[in-house]
Amino acid sequence: MADAVGLIRSLLLARTPPDPYPVYEALRADPGVHHFAPLDAYLVTRHADCAALHRDRSLRVINGVQQGRRRVGQWPPEILASIEQWPVYRNPPGHSALRQAAAPYFTPSRVAALRAFVERECERALDELARHGRDGTAVDLVPVLAAVPMRTMVHVLGLPAADVGTLVELMSEFSLLFEVVLSQAQNRRLAASHGRLVAYYLDRIAAARTGRFADLVAHWSDVGGGKSPRQVAGMLAGLMLAGFETSLGLLGNGARALALHPDQARLLAHRPELAEAAVEEVLRWDSPVQVNTRLAGRTMAVAGTVIPEGAVVGLVYGSAHRDPDRYPDPDRFDITRTGVRPLSFGFGVHHCVGSQLARMEAAVVLAALARRFPRLRLAGTPTLRQPCFTIRALQALPVRTA
Ligand code: HEM
Repeated sequence: MADAVGLIRSLLLARTPPDPYPVYEALRADPGVHHFAPLDAYLVTRHADCAALHRDRSLRVINGVQQGRRRVGQWPPEILASIEQWPVYRNPPGHSALRQAAAPYFTPSRVAALRAFVERECERALDELARHGRDGTAVDLVPVLAAVPMRTMVHVLGLPAADVGTLVELMSEFSLLFEVVLSQAQNRRLAASHGRLVAYYLDRIAAARTGRFADLVAHWSDVGGGKSPRQVAGMLAGLMLAGFETSLGLLGNGARALALHPDQARLLAHRPELAEAAVEEVLRWDSPVQVNTRLAGRTMAVAGTVIPEGAVVGLVYGSAHRDPDRYPDPDRFDITRTGVRPLSFGFGVHHCVGSQLARMEAAVVLAALARRFPRLRLAGTPTLRQPCFTIRALQALPVRTA
C-alpha cells in the first residue's frame, strides 16, 4: 500500500492533523495492520480484527510508568504518581480496588436517578444558547455543552457547584495527557495544569468535613490498603479526565453531526425515541476515543501480521467504525441504522465505568438540541481541543440557531 508510515506519522505527529477518516480508509487496505517503528506500535485498523482483540484475554494495559517512559516527551514524575492511581493504567490485581472505588458512583440505578438532574442542567445550558444565539448571532456551542458533564461530575462527587467554571478551565490543558507525542512546551503546560488540578483537590480534601465529598474522601482513603491525600487527589484527577473530556467529546461531535445533517436532526426532533440510537451512531461515526492501546501478552498473528509479545497494539476504533465490511455505507451518518455496537468504551475488565452515564447525558442533550434548535447549523470551522490522535473532541463549535 501507499506509504503507511507516512500516513500514520501525519495522524500522530502533524501540527495540524488531517481529517483522519480518509487516512483510515487507506490504512484499512491490505494488510490492515501496520507497524509504526518510531513508537514501536502496531495499529489495527479493521473492525473484525479490533473485535477479535476485544475478546483476547492475554492483552494487558500499558501501565503508567511504562507508558511514560515510551513517550517522546516523557511525563514528569508527579504525573506518573497520579497515573499510578488510575485503574485504566493498572493490570490486575492492582486494578480491581481502584475500579471498585469508582464503580459504585456510576451503577445503572445511580445513572437513572441522575437523569432528572441532567435534564435540568441541559435545559439551563440550552436556555443560555437560546439567549446568546437570538437574532442569528454565531455562538460557540462547546462551552455551553461542557457545562452539562462538568455540573454532573461535580454533583456526583459532591464538589461545590461554584467550582464548575474553574474545573472546566483546568481540564482544558490537562487533556494534553491524551496526546501520544508531546513537545517540551506541551509537556510544561500539561505539568502546570496537572499541578493546579492536584492542588485544587488537595485543598478540597483538606476542607472536607461532612457531605458527599467528605464521604468519598473517607472511602477512597481506605482503598487498596490506604491512600494518602495526594493519592486520593490523583484518583480524582484521573476520574475527571476519564469522565469529562470524553463526554465533552461525545457531545461536541454529536452536535456537529446534527448541524451537518439537518435531515437527521429533524428526524430526531420528531422521533425523540431515536435519541439512544443517535448516540450510538455518533459514537460510531465520530468516536471521541479514536484509539485504545494494549500490550501484547503473547506473540500473536493479526490479519497475517506477527505482533511480538510485549509490543504496543493500537486498536483504531475510529477506523474500525468506518469499515465497510462491518457497516455498509460507513461514511453516512444515519440515526436509524440498526446493529450499531461501537467499540468506543473499550473492553474486558477495563470496560468504561461511566459508559451508561455518558450515553444518558448524550441522549438527553442531543434530543433537546434537535427539539429546541431545528435551524442549528455551523457558523464557522470547528476546531479540535488538542491535536490528538487518541481523543477526538472539539474546542470550538461555532453555530447559529436562528
Ligand atoms: C463518551 C464518553 C466516554 C468514553 C468514550 C469513554 C471511554 C473509555 C475507554 C475507551 C476506557 C478504557 C477502556 C479500556 O481500556 O478498554 C474507559 C475507561 C474508564 N472510563 Fe470512560 N469513557 C467515557 C465516559 C466516562 C465517564 C462519564 C466516566 C465517569 C464519570 C468514565 C470513567 C472511566 C473509568 C473510571 C475508566 C477506567 C476503568 C478501568 O480501567 O477499569 N468514563 N472509558
